[in-house]
Amino acid sequence: FPIKKPKELDWSFAGPFGTYDKGQLQRGLKVYKEVCSACHALDLVSFRTLHDLGYSEAQVKAFAAEYTVQAGPDASGDMFDRPAIPADYFPAPFPNAEAAAAANGGAAPPDFSLIAKARAVERGFPTFVFDVFTQYAEAGPDYIHALLTGYEETPPEGLNVPEGTYYNPYFIGSASLAMAQPLFDDMVTYDDGSPQTVDQYAKDVSAFLMWAAEPHMEDRKKTGFRVIVFLLLFAGLVYLTKRKVWSRIE
Ligand code: HEM
Repeated sequence: FPIKKPKELDWSFAGPFGTYDKGQLQRGLKVYKEVCSACHALDLVSFRTLHDLGYSEAQVKAFAAEYTVQAGPDASGDMFDRPAIPADYFPAPFPNAEAAAAANGGAAPPDFSLIAKARAVERGFPTFVFDVFTQYAEAGPDYIHALLTGYEETPPEGLNVPEGTYYNPYFIGSASLAMAQPLFDDMVTYDDGSPQTVDQYAKDVSAFLMWAAEPHMEDRKKTGFRVIVFLLLFAGLVYLTKRKVWSRIE
């Protein structure tokens, strides 16, 4: 059974001058918090980095304080729970991979910190040559969006979907996966008037995961552009110097 190719979407962060849409990242964070974080960890992301999404210091503090993290050992050697502070990382929903797998029928939900990069498939020659210039990095979010919106009720004739797995033609592992469709219309309340649909939730959380995987993308692209401009000017100067140095040679 062929794996379907994800639809290529228009992301705000696409292209050499792409930037993240902060409103979208904030909505994506909300979807992650209210839906995905029940199963998926975000081990490498600290609360203080949420400043990038346009939140003030006080807002980040208040957001972190809604979580509880384990700290210690205290004077008597015991671990204890305390409210999280901005320097803490998102606490994982399960204590370890075994517990995560046991709670999900044997398949541990992958950590989300780098998933948008991890699922960015190679596109092969010659596309990857152009991808360098267009700064193509959207394969990961395209895939996550396709996976979240691509569940189908009835698998094609002849396909055996094992007990406890769900058919999804976009899943790159096999034809079905251990995650049931996680998103439904009106599940998460948006306060900026964006549509409360599976499609919009999937776009927003995919953009958020792209930011989590590459928080400095905008800086990288800016630097890259400056480097290219510099190299072009430099190449021109080197050429003129060469002409000058060799001008007396017949
Ligand atoms: C796998 C996204 C919510 C359980 C995955 C994968 C992604 C993903 C991208 C990786 C697929 C791959 O390996 O290519 C999301 C998003 C969610 C969400 C964006 C929220 C909107 C949940 C929830 C649960 C869950 C709430 C648990 C009830 C799993 C499990 C897997 C998985 C068990 C492993 C599937 C397998 O390898 O068979 N999810 N997920 N997910 N997710 Fe989620």
